[in-house]
Amino acid sequence: MCGIVGYIGTKKAVPVLINGLLSLEYRGYDSAGLAVLNHSSALKIVKDMGRVKNLQNNPELDSLDGSLGIAHTRWATRGAPSKNNSHPHTDNSETFTVVHNGIIENYDELKSFLADNGYTLHTETDTEIIPNLIHYYYSKNSESGILSAVSNALKKLEGSFAIEVISPLLKDTIIVAKKDSPVVIGVGEGENYVASDIPAILSYTRKFYFLEDFEIAELTSDSVKFYDFDLNSINKEIKDIEWDAVASEKNGYDDYMLKEIFEQPTAIRETIGTAFASDDKINLPLDGLDFSKFNKMYIIACGTAMHAGLATKYIFEKFAKFQCEVDMASEFRYRDPLIDEHTLCIFISQSGETADTIAALKLAKDHGSTTISIVNVIGSSITRLSDYVLYTHAGPEIAVASTKAYTCQVTLLSILAMYIAENKGLSNIDGFNELKSDIIALPEKVKSALELSDSIKELAKQNYTKKDMFYIGRITDYAICMEGSLKLKEISYIHSEAYAAGELKHGTIALIEDGTSVIGVITNPQISSKTLSNLDEVVTRGANIILVTNQDVDVSSTNIEENSIIRIPKCSPLVSPVIAVVPLQLFAYHTAKFKELDVDKPRNLAKSVTVE
Ligand code: G6P
Repeated sequence: MCGIVGYIGTKKAVPVLINGLLSLEYRGYDSAGLAVLNHSSALKIVKDMGRVKNLQNNPELDSLDGSLGIAHTRWATRGAPSKNNSHPHTDNSETFTVVHNGIIENYDELKSFLADNGYTLHTETDTEIIPNLIHYYYSKNSESGILSAVSNALKKLEGSFAIEVISPLLKDTIIVAKKDSPVVIGVGEGENYVASDIPAILSYTRKFYFLEDFEIAELTSDSVKFYDFDLNSINKEIKDIEWDAVASEKNGYDDYMLKEIFEQPTAIRETIGTAFASDDKINLPLDGLDFSKFNKMYIIACGTAMHAGLATKYIFEKFAKFQCEVDMASEFRYRDPLIDEHTLCIFISQSGETADTIAALKLAKDHGSTTISIVNVIGSSITRLSDYVLYTHAGPEIAVASTKAYTCQVTLLSILAMYIAENKGLSNIDGFNELKSDIIALPEKVKSALELSDSIKELAKQNYTKKDMFYIGRITDYAICMEGSLKLKEISYIHSEAYAAGELKHGTIALIEDGTSVIGVITNPQISSKTLSNLDEVVTRGANIILVTNQDVDVSSTNIEENSIIRIPKCSPLVSPVIAVVPLQLFAYHTAKFKELDVDKPRNLAKSVTVE
């Protein structure tokens, strides 16, 4: 998983390419490189290990004066991170230069094919196959042209790819193609752009084409033509994107993650949007969908998005009255799930590009299930594949660790559960109206929870040197713990686990010793005293605890100290994940800052996992 950018026009290409790469660094940052066709027609490639900043400061860039270029920021899949493995890659004769996001799965077969035809690969990457294959087809039949050679090469590739191809033989052209990896084309006046996502080029244009799988685009400075892999012409529609480019900047915050944590009240308000604008009917764009035809539902996603599903399973069971299973997309796609046309499948994804989620979605469609997706990135692959799409309006989320997307996902899923209840004639269920008021109140309550940032920073200071950390809670509190624990792991590299509080005594409590840190979450009056007892059990075994709660817990008869309690605003336990996760996000953030880590770009992770 990597980021690609391209530019063709009249400006100097390098600054545009570097800006784009900086914005795409969340997709990978172990090396970066670019290729520019200079005005002298010489093609120049510059690469550097590590962050885009290293490439940006490379003095070799000064000699790149051209207005046509392609660039890449890498997250290594095949071939270790190294300057040699970083993109762009060229064929043996240096005629074709390619950047690639994705994985070529039939690498071994194609490598032997190329070797049999006299080609030698000089890197460990699968990408190097592509320019060589293009060269192979071009040298066989140069009269058919370069586009034809590219399309022949593409037909040989198995796996996923978004690629850009340039060549000194093509004075004013970039060729772009896609299968299962994202790429967008931005249209300007006398110039055109390519990028893995919209924000990377949003400061230059609002007009975009979305390339679909098995499509090729041929860009010149003032035209964009589209073809299928057989080179039949295709007509595509330009879409206007309204996102504010300023929203993709840090706005004075030290990091994107902190900015995004503090954006949550606004993001949630935008996500609620006009859902409750009318008193008689919840407003969601799901017209014509009759939910009485379903007998069960699945929520399928990865990572934080999957945690949003776990946090809302109970709302669907209580209000929509569906048996609700939550599954990881990477498991669901391979386990032959029992689904058919009576199953409702809900997919959640911030990026809308996660490879496992896309595969699970395709599987659900193959079984005839109805698919609704909850997505943040407009026009992303999942939105185009789903029967229905509901957007979280979180705005661009840049930090790798997801925060505002999660709270918006939980909010929107809660609204969807209410919508289904209403559609099934179940809106008289106890608690329906209270849930609506609770959802409407979320932005203000999250705002109050954010005021805890300084006191949480103190707790992070006391804990940042720990090696392990446990999170315990029951029911939705357990789901909140899973997300809190994931945040800590992702950005502070502290080993941490979330447990259902009642399970602790069946093994894990053996790990508790003097000074072990345990975070407890209690937002449900029904199980408040139970989790409190579990916390008391770990305190008596020497643990230091932090208790996040909105209940009036009485700790006087326990060993828990009053000053270990973080009090958050009260709300129904069904929507408490949106509020209770905030102190856990802040705890992870401040812990990582005390450890002087890069919170926005944690090691080994990428924001958008477009490979399996
Ligand atoms: C990656 C990211 C996580 C994210 C997950 C699912 O692992 O690092 O933060 O939750 O992918 O991404 P999605 O875009 O589908 O929500």
